[in-house]
Amino acid sequence: MSFWFPVEEVIEGKAKILAPKLNLTINEPLDHARSRAAVFYNPIMQLNRDTAVLTLMHLKEKTTQPLKACEPMCGSGVRGIRLVLEARVDQMVLGDLNPSAISLSEENVRRNNLNQHIRIRLMDANILMNIHSNPMNRFDYVDIDPYGSPSPFLDSTIRSVKDEGIIALTATDMAPLCGVSPLACLRKYGGKPLRVAYSHEVALRLVIGATVRSAAIHEMGAKPILSYYSDHYVRVYLSMKYGAKPADAALSEMGYIVHCQKCLYREVVKGAYLKASRDCIFCGNKMMVGGPMWLGEIVDSMFLDNIIKKTLKSDVNWEPRLIQLLDTLKQENQAPPSYYNLDEICSKLGISSESLDKFIDKIRSSGFNAYKTHFDDRGFKTNANIQQLASLLKL
Ligand SMILES: C[S@@+](CC[C@H](N)C(=O)[O-])C[C@H]1O[C@@H](n2cnc3c(N)ncnc32)[C@H](O)[C@@H]1O
Ligand SMILES: [Zn+2]
Repeated sequence: MSFWFPVEEVIEGKAKILAPKLNLTINEPLDHARSRAAVFYNPIMQLNRDTAVLTLMHLKEKTTQPLKACEPMCGSGVRGIRLVLEARVDQMVLGDLNPSAISLSEENVRRNNLNQHIRIRLMDANILMNIHSNPMNRFDYVDIDPYGSPSPFLDSTIRSVKDEGIIALTATDMAPLCGVSPLACLRKYGGKPLRVAYSHEVALRLVIGATVRSAAIHEMGAKPILSYYSDHYVRVYLSMKYGAKPADAALSEMGYIVHCQKCLYREVVKGAYLKASRDCIFCGNKMMVGGPMWLGEIVDSMFLDNIIKKTLKSDVNWEPRLIQLLDTLKQENQAPPSYYNLDEICSKLGISSESLDKFIDKIRSSGFNAYKTHFDDRGFKTNANIQQLASLLKL
């Protein structure tokens, strides 16, 4: 089959697909050339697709029924093809608004001999999901991978997933989520971002928080089982449970982070209304408020253990950073929300920075816990407060 745009063969996981061949002009950044392509395919997002494959492998193991999944913004179709080839999804529904994406996905499905398993629709994502909101037609898994924010698709995503199904969301609109445009964040996610060293974690928690509130409208509880930040996007997998009780339980994990810009003290305050004092207990400075956002665990340890085992056992060619990411997530899940950047603290104290590994050892030998975080190479999570950290650094 020929296309009106140049294509090339690409292998990702077990899928062999055609992807648009980039027409790079001199000095043009790759991202820019990619955004001009007729159909979207980004090899850097393999990590994102690897975690989707692992999640579906987990779902497949849990059920004897045929597994039904939907990716309503499919681009080249690579993700859906991998889900069928690697996680043995039985029925996959792909959709996209771009006719070129649909033609390319059709060809890619044919090349991988998956016509029996994958249906493709040229359709708006919300319409496609709403067609499937009837209880008989819902999916076990719905994967939302849009340009920018998943918020305009949240309601239909939640309506189209079965009880105990999983939804996955990618958000690439990091500027609003990290506080560069707080009003845009309030519009999209109903919460205030924080422009702080740990803004990537706040971004993740705002996306989870918005999903939890949207799910509660439909009397559903949403529980994150795997969430992370990578390559300028956040990704969350949530397990969905019907009922007022799970919805209320999820809402009880919502709240605020109150942050002092002057001395870096922060407070985590659970609850629908903010009752905390806005003055820093250490330096008296007025504190900034972020949220409402999700304050509970961002991964489920048992789920994580299960998929880590799968990465080791399976013969899929995983993205090289995957195992390290999952291991770090497992460690840091034991720590409270928010993290510190060692260089930021040292700069506030007017001292030179030091080795992160050595400082983490020092915190631990003083009886606190401390973990590296996947959010930031120079970041760490701990239950020590900023004054205790400052004393340790000055030792
Ligand atoms: C980031 S790309 C998806 C990449 C793909 N999920 C992957 O893993 O390679 C976003 C896709 O969403 C499609 N899109 C944007 N708005 C849409 C809408 N309202 N309904 C359906 N598709 C849409 C675009 O045409 C594009 O192909
Ligand atoms: Zn302070």
